[in-house]
Amino acid sequence: MRKQDIIISNDLEASLCHAIEQCSHDKLFVLTDHTTNEKCRPLIADFDCLKGAEYISIPATDEHKTLESLSYVWSYLSQNGGSRHSLLINLGGGMVTDLGGFAASTFKRGINYINIPTTLLAMVDAAVGGKTGINFNGLKNEIGVFSPAHSVLLNTTFLKTLDTANLCSGYAEMLKHGLISTETHWAELVNFDLTNIDYAALQQLVAKSVSIKEGIVQTDPYEQGIRKALNLGHTVGHAFESLALAENRTVLHGYAVAWGLICELYLSFIKTGFPKDRLRQTIDFIKNNYGVFAFDCKVYEQLYQFMTHDKKNTSGIINFTLMGDIGDIKINQSATKEEIFEMLDFYRETTGC
Ligand code: GLY
Repeated sequence: MRKQDIIISNDLEASLCHAIEQCSHDKLFVLTDHTTNEKCRPLIADFDCLKGAEYISIPATDEHKTLESLSYVWSYLSQNGGSRHSLLINLGGGMVTDLGGFAASTFKRGINYINIPTTLLAMVDAAVGGKTGINFNGLKNEIGVFSPAHSVLLNTTFLKTLDTANLCSGYAEMLKHGLISTETHWAELVNFDLTNIDYAALQQLVAKSVSIKEGIVQTDPYEQGIRKALNLGHTVGHAFESLALAENRTVLHGYAVAWGLICELYLSFIKTGFPKDRLRQTIDFIKNNYGVFAFDCKVYEQLYQFMTHDKKNTSGIINFTLMGDIGDIKINQSATKEEIFEMLDFYRETTGC
C-alpha cells in the first residue's frame, strides 16, 4: 500500500495548500457532514487553495455511513464535473473519512483524497491506515477497500471543539497504542490528566500515537499479521457495542474499547503472563475516566455469540490479540468459553457493576 503523508500541522492553511499542490487535479471537492459543515468548514472556508472548491455535505453520525450517503456523494461528484483527476478532501470524524475515502477510491476507479480528521478518534485511528468503507445490512464496515489517503493532516485545534466524552473515546485508541508499544509511552498515557487537558501535551501524544499506528500499517497494510495488534480490546469492545445496540443504550466506540481492554488484559494476565501491576494501573485509569458498562451474567451467552460473529475470526474461532507485557504482542490467540465467562466475571467484579 502506498505510504500516506501524515502531517502534524500547526498551520492548517499552509499544510493543506501544500498537500493540495502535491495532487494535481482539475476540480476540488470537500466532503463534510452536517456537523462539521457547520463547526469546522468556517475554519477552512477562506483558505486561498480552496477557492472554487465544491462542498458536499451528508448527515452526521455512524448510522448515516450508508450506501445512500455514498450514492449521494458519487452522484454529486458525477453531476458536478468530477473526473478521474479530481481531488476529494474529507473534513470530519471517522464516518466522513471512512465513507469519503471509499467514495474517492471507487469513483471513476479511484481519485486522490486528503483526510482532515476533526475528532481524536479519527486522528489517531480511522483517518490513518487506509481502511475505508461503509456499514451495510446492519453490519459495521461490511463493504470497503484498503486505499490510503494521499495525505492526512492532523491539526489539534479541532480537538478544542470536542466534548470530554469524544476526547475520552479517541484517547482509548491511544491507550491501546501505548499498550502495544513501549513502557514509556504507556506510562505517559496512564498518567495524563483527561479531566484537565493540556492541549500542547496532547498534541505530542497524538503525534506519537499516530506514528505507532503508521509503523504497524507500513509493516502489514492488509492485516495479515502484526496489524492485528490494533485489534487489542476490540473483540470484547465490539461485543459490548453490539449489546448496547440491542439494548438501545448509547456507547461511544472508544468507551467500548476501553472496557474491552480491561477484559482482554485480564485474559492476557491469565493466558500470556501480562503483569498484574500493569493490569491494575491500566484498569484504574479506565475506571477513573470511562466509568463502567453494566451487565449481568444473563447476557454472557449473548456477548459470547457476538464475539463468535466478529469478522476477524476464522472458522468461527474467536481471534484475540493479547499481550505478554507492554509492547509484547501476541496475535492470533484463542480462549475457551469458560475463560471468556471468567473474564466477564472479572470485569464485573473489578468494576463493581
Ligand atoms: N482500526 C484498526 C486498524 O486500522 O487496523
